[in-house]
Amino acid sequence: MSDVRRKVMVVGGYGEVGKSVCAALAASSPGEVIVAGRSLEKAEAFAARFGGALEPMRLDIEAVGTALPPSFDAVGTVVMCVERDTADFAHACLASGRNYIDVSASDAFLRQVQSLHDVARMHQSTAVLSVGVAPGLSNLLAKRCVEDLDEVDRIDIGLLLGMGDAHGEAATRWLINALLEQRRIAPGTKNDVMDYGFGWGRRTMYPVDFADQHVIRRTLQARAASTAVCFDPSWLFDALSALMNATPLAIAKRVYPGRAFVEWSRKMRVGSHRFSLRVEARGRRGGESVRVLGYLEGEREAERTGQVAAWVANRLRARQWDPGVYHLEQLTDLASLLGEVPSLSTRLEILDSRDPS
Ligand SMILES: NC(=O)c1ccc[n+]([C@@H]2O[C@H](COP(=O)([O-])OP(=O)(O)OC[C@H]3O[C@@H](n4cnc5c(N)ncnc54)[C@H](OP(=O)(O)O)[C@@H]3O)[C@@H](O)[C@H]2O)c1
Repeated sequence: MSDVRRKVMVVGGYGEVGKSVCAALAASSPGEVIVAGRSLEKAEAFAARFGGALEPMRLDIEAVGTALPPSFDAVGTVVMCVERDTADFAHACLASGRNYIDVSASDAFLRQVQSLHDVARMHQSTAVLSVGVAPGLSNLLAKRCVEDLDEVDRIDIGLLLGMGDAHGEAATRWLINALLEQRRIAPGTKNDVMDYGFGWGRRTMYPVDFADQHVIRRTLQARAASTAVCFDPSWLFDALSALMNATPLAIAKRVYPGRAFVEWSRKMRVGSHRFSLRVEARGRRGGESVRVLGYLEGEREAERTGQVAAWVANRLRARQWDPGVYHLEQLTDLASLLGEVPSLSTRLEILDSRDPS
């Protein structure tokens, strides 16, 4: 990255995740951060809170073609906080020598960006995917759980989300769509009720197609992997889920991801603002069956997602990683990240035992 391209552009920069990326980067690199979104007014209002450390910009990412406009001239790193279907824009960044970070949880999209590895190497740029809490910290916790195993049979990821937390509109809609999609592909599935442990008690676990379960099969050579979410309070989401299940699927797919329901569920704010990740890995070490349970707890999931992305942006700007396209766990480990950004987690436990099953 040349020095004329010192700036970081945060696309979706005044959204729930984006504003945390901007706040962290405004502190570390004032004057070198662009907050971009479709509304210049919102970008300006957000930037005004930082006394000149952030530059507001109007940008509709859908309108950017395969060649980047002049507004990108000073940009060396892009942090994408808007859900995308195609990797065209990622391609434009990497092929022009710019670094690219994405917080997306959609594996189909991440695979498209992953396929740009050779493009990135050829143009000396780097993309980092699986950035955030889940995917992100979940991938790193899974890596920590399997690091001493000779063989990995399966990894099961659990994500607990506090319904009192501030979840963004895009993230809420993504999760509702993923839960409905699960219902479409596995109608009548009985969700697992399990003791989540670590003081949370019994929870209904809802399988969700988060990217982490697919990515760690590729990066950590796990034979099988799954991701399921649960909520705090449990009863509230169980009641909502019963309502969603009682609605015919065709209607549910129109009503629940719609603006009115998404806004209502975001404003409800019942329960804690904590999140937790629980990773259970099974495999073999020295011929013996082993079970490793990893637990990581923190507060304010969207804000922590942004802090992980800002940390990655600073690593890329310092040219600490090679050109290419990588998932977070291919570049770093949990100890390094938590060592440098301790606010990401308030509790971490790793329990390693013989597997009786
Ligand atoms: N990895 C993780 O752990 C993790 C955690 C949470 C969320 N996420 C992901 O992060 C992403 C953002 O979620 P969020 O909760 O921050 O959503 P959000 O609060 O709704 O923010 C989205 C932002 O994107 C902007 N935007 C939307 N369309 C745009 C376009 N065409 N061009 C430019 N800007 C556009 C929006 O502003 P305007 O509408 O005004 O343009 C808004 O500022 C989602 O993909 C979500 O799945 C990942």
